[in-house]
Amino acid sequence: MSHDAAHAPLDVLILAAGLGTRMRSRTAKVLHKLGGRPLVAHVCRAAAALSPRRIYTVVGHQAAEVEQAVEEELGTEGGERFITQTEQRGTGDAVMAARDELADANSTLLVLSGDVPLIRPETLGALVQQHRTHRGHGAACTVLAVRLDDPTGYGRIVRDAENRFERIVEQKDATPEERLINEINAGIYCFETRSLFPALNQVQPANTQGEYYLTDVPGILRAGEEDVSVYLHPDAREVSGINTRVELAEFERILRVRTLRRLMLDSGVTFIDPTNSYVSPEAQIGRDTVVHPGAHIEGRTVIGEGCEIRHGARITDSRIGNGVTVKDHCLIIDSDIEDNCTVGPFAHLRMNARMDEGATVGNFVEMKKSRLGRKSKAMHLTYLGDADIGERTNIGAGTITCNYDGVNKHATLIEDDVKIGSDTMLVAPVRIGARAVTGAGSVVTKDVPPDSLVAGVPAKVKKTFHEEQKSEVRSQKSE
Ligand code: UD1
Ligand code: CA
Repeated sequence: MSHDAAHAPLDVLILAAGLGTRMRSRTAKVLHKLGGRPLVAHVCRAAAALSPRRIYTVVGHQAAEVEQAVEEELGTEGGERFITQTEQRGTGDAVMAARDELADANSTLLVLSGDVPLIRPETLGALVQQHRTHRGHGAACTVLAVRLDDPTGYGRIVRDAENRFERIVEQKDATPEERLINEINAGIYCFETRSLFPALNQVQPANTQGEYYLTDVPGILRAGEEDVSVYLHPDAREVSGINTRVELAEFERILRVRTLRRLMLDSGVTFIDPTNSYVSPEAQIGRDTVVHPGAHIEGRTVIGEGCEIRHGARITDSRIGNGVTVKDHCLIIDSDIEDNCTVGPFAHLRMNARMDEGATVGNFVEMKKSRLGRKSKAMHLTYLGDADIGERTNIGAGTITCNYDGVNKHATLIEDDVKIGSDTMLVAPVRIGARAVTGAGSVVTKDVPPDSLVAGVPAKVKKTFHEEQKSEVRSQKSE
């Protein structure tokens, strides 16, 4: 998009103060999620891609939450971005709330609705371009319109005998003839601010809803002999707003299909059943990875090549290397799994769990804030919390790091080549030295020296290994 010095700078105003009654929700509509992100965040991202001077957001319902959603998307550097509309008296009133901030700025203002999440930056760029070049000198206002087979509910574009724009009439105020018009207002506009605010001053709530309609402004400008242009966009779906949960679900499906197609066609990922696979638009998956039905891959998860993600696994904001198998029904959140690891079935990794290359976690194992070193294993019924585990160590079935004393969390350190016997309780803080062995059922309350065998409740050192015994013990112990 051009930033000719001849043009006024571009600002964006996103209308996001409404509740969205038709959602039948206690949550403001723009906070409802599509592809795991609030609707308003999608709009922010499209707007930011135009590199405008400023992005303003009009907030009202759940203002704090909406502001947070916007800041999560745009960052906080921009400063004063939010405008509060105390009472929601219509889209015209929402823009009026920004008068103090914007009226004196000599700018082109792109007005967006917070509930139009599929809008693309290219479309917005084309709208701004037409607005600025209309009849060589630019328009006072440009309305983004589309044609719909069923225009019910939308504002209609009324044209005069010469087919020029005349005004917008809302569904509820339209005559039966006007309701036949299928060219509708998408609720996305470009205005020159010096024309916008004087016209907005003339808007009256003289309509069936008793609201201040922003949609009256283009008609007022036109009546005042100012240039109003209509940008007719070919893709109706892209610019349609979400008003109900039925539409939200439909958009979710569209976005999901788009994401899966991209992963299959461009990235070379196999989905056994794309109708039952859920992948965030922001996730990345590598070539020849196979995703089984019912898997959910969420947030900014990155999965490498040649992995197998089996039925019902949920992986959120995690990093998975190459050649990893995630078996059925695993839950992996904010975790990091290196190449050639195997996880599950029914494993739970969370809060920065980390598996180094070739490590294995089996069924009913939970890892929290813990690292399992290279080629180490924890195969059955185990809790590893606040633990750091070295290489080639085996954690026996039923092992628990007792990391919580009721007040504080404590760390467990297990060094390389350790054999933790089945049903060992490791009462943290505790350290198990390299090559040590714990007997089945031990309750370890004190540090275990390297090369020693401990057993009992509480565990005591039973013997210390000489060089030749070490290899013997290794060959005796089963996994
Ligand atoms: C609006 C248009 C309609 C258009 C349709 C396209 C008006 C009067 N009508 O209708 O012509 O066809 O969009 O989707 O503008 N908002 C506020 N404060 C308010 C009211 C609304 O911030 O006081 C925000 C809402 O949060 C929403 C946006 O403005 O993000 C649009 O409001 P909405 O009530 O959805 O307008 P529509 O009835 O869909
Ligand atoms: Ca709407």
